[in-house]
Amino acid sequence: MPETTPGNTPAPSTGNDSVSIESVLIENRVFEPPADFGHRVGGAYIDSLDAYHSLHRRSIDDPESFWAEIARELDWFEPWTPGSVVEWNLPDAKWFVGAKTNLSHNCLDRQIANGHGDDLAILWEGEPPAPGQSEGNPEVRKLTYNDLHAETCKLANVLKDLGVSKGDVVTLYMGMVPELAIAMLACARIGAPHSVIFGGFSSQAIADRVIDAKSKLVITCDGAWRRGSVVPLKANVDEACAKTDVIENVIVLKRCDNDVTMTEGRDHWWHDLTSRASADCDCEPMDSEDMLFLLYTSGSTGKPKGIMHTTAGYMVYTYITSKYTFNLVPDRDQLYWCSADIGWVTGHSYIVYGLLPNRVPTLMYEGAPNHPEPDRFWDIIERHKVTQFYTAPTAIRAFMKWGSEHPRKHDLSSLIVLGTVGEPINPEAWMWYHEVIGGEKCPIVDTWWQTETGGQMITPLPGATPTVPGSCTLPFFGVDAAIVNDDGVEQPTNVGGLLVIRKPWPSMLRGIFGDRERFIETYFSRVKGMYLAGDSARRDERGYFWIMGRIDDVINVAGHRLGTMEVESALVSHESVVEAAVVGMPHEIKGTGIAAFCTLDPGHNPDGPEATEELKKALRAHVAKEIGAIAKPDMIRFTDALPKTRSGKIMRRLLRAIASGDTSTNQDTTTLEDFSVLAKLRESEEG
Ligand code: PRX
Repeated sequence: MPETTPGNTPAPSTGNDSVSIESVLIENRVFEPPADFGHRVGGAYIDSLDAYHSLHRRSIDDPESFWAEIARELDWFEPWTPGSVVEWNLPDAKWFVGAKTNLSHNCLDRQIANGHGDDLAILWEGEPPAPGQSEGNPEVRKLTYNDLHAETCKLANVLKDLGVSKGDVVTLYMGMVPELAIAMLACARIGAPHSVIFGGFSSQAIADRVIDAKSKLVITCDGAWRRGSVVPLKANVDEACAKTDVIENVIVLKRCDNDVTMTEGRDHWWHDLTSRASADCDCEPMDSEDMLFLLYTSGSTGKPKGIMHTTAGYMVYTYITSKYTFNLVPDRDQLYWCSADIGWVTGHSYIVYGLLPNRVPTLMYEGAPNHPEPDRFWDIIERHKVTQFYTAPTAIRAFMKWGSEHPRKHDLSSLIVLGTVGEPINPEAWMWYHEVIGGEKCPIVDTWWQTETGGQMITPLPGATPTVPGSCTLPFFGVDAAIVNDDGVEQPTNVGGLLVIRKPWPSMLRGIFGDRERFIETYFSRVKGMYLAGDSARRDERGYFWIMGRIDDVINVAGHRLGTMEVESALVSHESVVEAAVVGMPHEIKGTGIAAFCTLDPGHNPDGPEATEELKKALRAHVAKEIGAIAKPDMIRFTDALPKTRSGKIMRRLLRAIASGDTSTNQDTTTLEDFSVLAKLRESEEG
């Protein structure tokens, strides 16, 4: 059993004011890669810790030859300038300088040219039963590389006909349907960066992102299936169009057959346009550093930032991390499934772009994990014989809660590798995943990375790295990760500090769209000369990394990243709220939940418990409207005032302690301006 000091798990991050770690989890369980792993997987690429260490050393000492060798596994229209695999003028990195390639080509045309056009590329399963079928007979579509190529080319031609050219940002707001992957590949094919917006975001969020990216074309669906209901995607886009006149064209895919309003001249049906389009479209030769996509993510301020990724480095890095982390081997009946939504970076890198160049089919599932029953995922794994499965700790905790009887009803013996991503995994969830899902025979790869890193940065390799529950273990090849203090000095073993990356890696972000200053300020200011991840962490005696939590005002709610200031802005935009402070709080399933402390306009003070509940409900609904349902506070507290320092800064640390149920008085309050505020908050907590 793990020994822990009180109150400590490596999991639920609630954001820290400082990076010091008061208590440290000591976990003694070590799981060696299973002896038969290589046999089961068709050969482990990296089969021992020694092999890992020597290759890692080479990748750091000689990145030029290391990355050139990997890059040669893919197709290039023109080679990079010799000696220019990487150029690093802090904070700007360039990879494969001078080369030309196209990621859509490497995903599709390359496979077809090598005789694999009829191989399975995407296996898609819809949430509801297939048309005319009863529950338990879901709709399944199997797309080969040829199918994907034809559909991608048709849409690419449609986009060109609508005036999209290289460099124009196309917004994708769709459900988890194959056409979302097709739309991404079509954009990549013609050099139009895409900006995918998660289908759970609101019309306001769409409008904000479209305006920031100056994106004139949006691709959406009539609706998306989620837990048996239709999410009205097109209606949300209509609302967004009413908030901005940036959007000139909307392409609508018919998926749910729900009623939608089509605006003449602006809205077009996907099927009408593509039925008339040619299935041939040459790939735009993309410079290595041409932008591939933008993906908005939350930061410390209220405004989400558009993270920019470029073509070649991202392509090479997602290809090789997919290959090694999941040990993808083509022609071995492997079927890989990542349950993330493509609206997040995980779906970009590890459903679409890293997978297709590896020629192992990628499974896409449309809906919820508990529809129609809580065993839906296990049913999918059994029916399709999934071999690699990648999900989030929050999902694992929900599965645990729903009960082991659901996975136990199913034959999960096809599984070879299990992965997790998005937040720290608590050892209990890790052990459940290992025992109940993996049958104690599947290595677990706990992969640490970020929207900004583009690909997995710290992760076990399944045939090589002994795993320890709760640790993401060791850096991937080419990644020079370290734990440092503010001066950039490495911290001793088991002492917490700032997680930094000291050298550039191929898929690192190239900037924040339209905000160079914020890019430098966020990632390259606090510690000189290094990329600051924004997480605190420590390294143990083995050199293994343990992520402790965020050091900024970002919280990780059910693996989804949110800025506390975003939620605060949404709250104060409601007429009743004068001031709001949002902090993370421990949550059994989500890891971190959202706690909001609000002061109210005197005219809106609720009268009695019923009115208080009503107002809380209204505020939750308001936040969902402003951002999306994922941002709804789990707890709202009304207070006369917020605890502040003498200089007027809200003392979030104190609010975090209250939100987590810590009513002790041993917090440092030396800078607190008005003690009665804190006393009142503590009192009402106890009451
Ligand atoms: O705090 C870390 C946490 O998620 C943050 C990145 O969030 P996002 O950009 O949305 O990307 C999530 C998917 C890659 C990180 O700064 N995080 C991600 N993976 C892990 C993690 N924390 C602990 N362990 C992980 N494996």
